[in-house]
Amino acid sequence: MTKTRTIIRGVGGYLPERVLTNAELATMVDTSDEWIQQRVGIKERHIAAEGQFTSDLAVEAAKRAMTAAGVTPDDIDLIVVATTTPDYTFPAAATLVQMKLGMHHGMAFDLQAVCSGFVYAVATADSYIKNGLATRALVIGAETFSRLLDWNDRTTCVLFGDGAGAVVLEKIELDDDAPEQGILASALRSDGHHWEKLYVDGGPSTTGTTGHVHMQGPEVFRHAVGKITDVVYAALEEAGYTVEDLDWFVPHQANKRIIEGAGAKLGLPPEKVIMTVDIHANTSAASVPLALSAAVADGRIKKGDLVMLEAMGGGFTWGASLIRW
Ligand code: UT7
Repeated sequence: MTKTRTIIRGVGGYLPERVLTNAELATMVDTSDEWIQQRVGIKERHIAAEGQFTSDLAVEAAKRAMTAAGVTPDDIDLIVVATTTPDYTFPAAATLVQMKLGMHHGMAFDLQAVCSGFVYAVATADSYIKNGLATRALVIGAETFSRLLDWNDRTTCVLFGDGAGAVVLEKIELDDDAPEQGILASALRSDGHHWEKLYVDGGPSTTGTTGHVHMQGPEVFRHAVGKITDVVYAALEEAGYTVEDLDWFVPHQANKRIIEGAGAKLGLPPEKVIMTVDIHANTSAASVPLALSAAVADGRIKKGDLVMLEAMGGGFTWGASLIRW
């Protein structure tokens, strides 16, 4: 007997060329490199060029993930782009990615769960694959978050950046007695009662404009650590593991202090926690695959490792995904 499993076959990340340092930001708003590094652990962020859109960043990350996986667009039959900053209100950025990859086949759609988008998208593609709707998926987190920022608001503009990360997910049939592989469990949650704590004050149905990010930072912080650890425990329990079994924790890269707080609450040694927020800031749905691609590229995450992805963000939404690499 065999069982259907979804494995991650390749990972890729892309950051736009333009780097915006804390020092440069300090010439734009009343802030300092010291404040930003102490409170959030960010040194710099990348900003998409004029005329460079979310789908362009997504395509770069997707190409890198496909190269790592040894596949071409012909092999892909599902594209899910997790994004809060699509090129247009519609069509989905995913269909633009499909076009830019020269594909006419398969299906493509966007998924909107803000910073948790990538974790939601991995679980969604996993379900499509396990239910026979797809066999090989590109799951991409891509954002041009800089375009939602009020560059005069120091409480938000220092926190975010642009970027994209992607994985190729693939269906395999695993013998019952073979070592386990792939996505073992996902836990997804949301609670819309918190929407005003982190939101953008515009949209097609309200103002007809794009709007800017507003955040009650300390309130979001207060909820983050508890919500993150809840879904991590839920995913571990579903798969029959404990925190001690984890080789790597790949959290949403929003704030160094939140990541360290969640790691400490879980009892994880800091060397098992992947941290890249210093070099790209909070890239929303792109942050988890960017951190993942860094840790795979430098050889930390290896075949057989037990890896926990986790994110929390606007909505609120939060989620975790447990993967045997
Ligand atoms: O991806 C979605 C998830 N989002 C998050 O995880 C964000 C969660 N929240 C946070 O990371 C933190 O709450 C922030 C980094 C946003 C803020 O840090 P904080 O330690 O909670 O600071 P605070 O908002 O309580 O502000 C402390 C002080 C204030 O000044 P006063 O009132 O004490 O005089 C702020 O006006 O820091 C001031 N401040 C700044 N100072 C210099 C706020 N932003 C800045 C800034 N530079 N950029």
